[in-house]
Amino acid sequence: ISLKKYNTFGIDAKAKFFCEINSIADLKKALSLQGYPTLFILGGGSNMLITKDLENLVLHINLKGIEVVSENKDVAIIKVSAGENWHNMVLWTLDRDYGGLENLSLIPGNTGTAPIQNIGAYGVELKDTFLSCDAMEIATRELKTFTKEECQFGYRDSYFKNEGLGKYIITSVSFKLTKRNHKLNVDYGAIISELQNNGIGNPSIKEVSNAVISIRKSKLPDPKELGNSGSFFKNPVVDKQQFDNFTKLNPTAPFYKVSENEFKIPAGWLIEQCGYKGKRFGDAGVHKNQALVLVNYGNASGAEIIELAENIIDSVSQRFGIMISPEVNIIK
Ligand code: EPU
Repeated sequence: ISLKKYNTFGIDAKAKFFCEINSIADLKKALSLQGYPTLFILGGGSNMLITKDLENLVLHINLKGIEVVSENKDVAIIKVSAGENWHNMVLWTLDRDYGGLENLSLIPGNTGTAPIQNIGAYGVELKDTFLSCDAMEIATRELKTFTKEECQFGYRDSYFKNEGLGKYIITSVSFKLTKRNHKLNVDYGAIISELQNNGIGNPSIKEVSNAVISIRKSKLPDPKELGNSGSFFKNPVVDKQQFDNFTKLNPTAPFYKVSENEFKIPAGWLIEQCGYKGKRFGDAGVHKNQALVLVNYGNASGAEIIELAENIIDSVSQRFGIMISPEVNIIK
């Protein structure tokens, strides 16, 4: 079958073997199938670039359900099945006035894949409200619960991208959310101006969510209209010495201080300086409002997107001496 509608980049690659997983029992059964090639786990398909037809057994994780596991007057613990769409889940929490996920509104993809790269936006990361996740170990078909510590979250990083790579399938994620005294994160410049422009002084979590939604809509393309995988690259982190050299030559460049010796430079800015913003090469392009996002205008192949990405990496490296690297999973 074609995977075009299963990946937000809209790449028309084919899967030879495809299995829809609607229950834990389905998952156990699929994992015990004999004689199939290696597995390929597909969630929302929002953080991958497929560059060829897949010979693997593709498991599309479609586990559904959101439940409140426990609550008191201050907090609620919710458990969300892996196949739930992330943004719909965030809206579900906001409808109940549960706080903590509002800054992560409108992120594409499914809940089960969110911990793998510790999704983040506007000063908040998944790890801030994450309690635990359940995952099935592929080798044993047993469910295991991972605590936050065991997940080893970092910037767009976790255990599941490192030692745990290819060993587990996340089946559900639990979050600890606030029911009152919500802790707002509204220090991010874009959120401050969005709230100000709407005359909102003391925002509710729903208003913060609405601000995030409108910022994202103005900068990031909707995958339903224009194929993309969000940020294609990670923002590079450089040490103090590299940073000092960089700012001497580029005094107006934006940056975030990560620690005394680590500085993050927005890759979008670097790419824009190299002249790529809004450029189109065949059906592959760089988004006009956010240079960090590569887009598929219709029929770009994975290989064409890769070629563009490699040209961008070379240009940024030559001009700034900084190596940027992909954030999306490239399936080769
Ligand atoms: N910038 C440019 N040109 C561009 C894009 C950005 O000069 O084309 C500059 C902006 O002016 C700003 C700075 O770069 O000064 C940062 O831009 P922005 O706030 O848009 O955020 P970002 O660093 O480019 C990161 C995340 C996004 C997340 C936003 C908001 C990564 C790889 N990306 O982007 O995450 O939504 O911050 O928090 O960390 C994603 O991961 O898919 C994603 C969209």
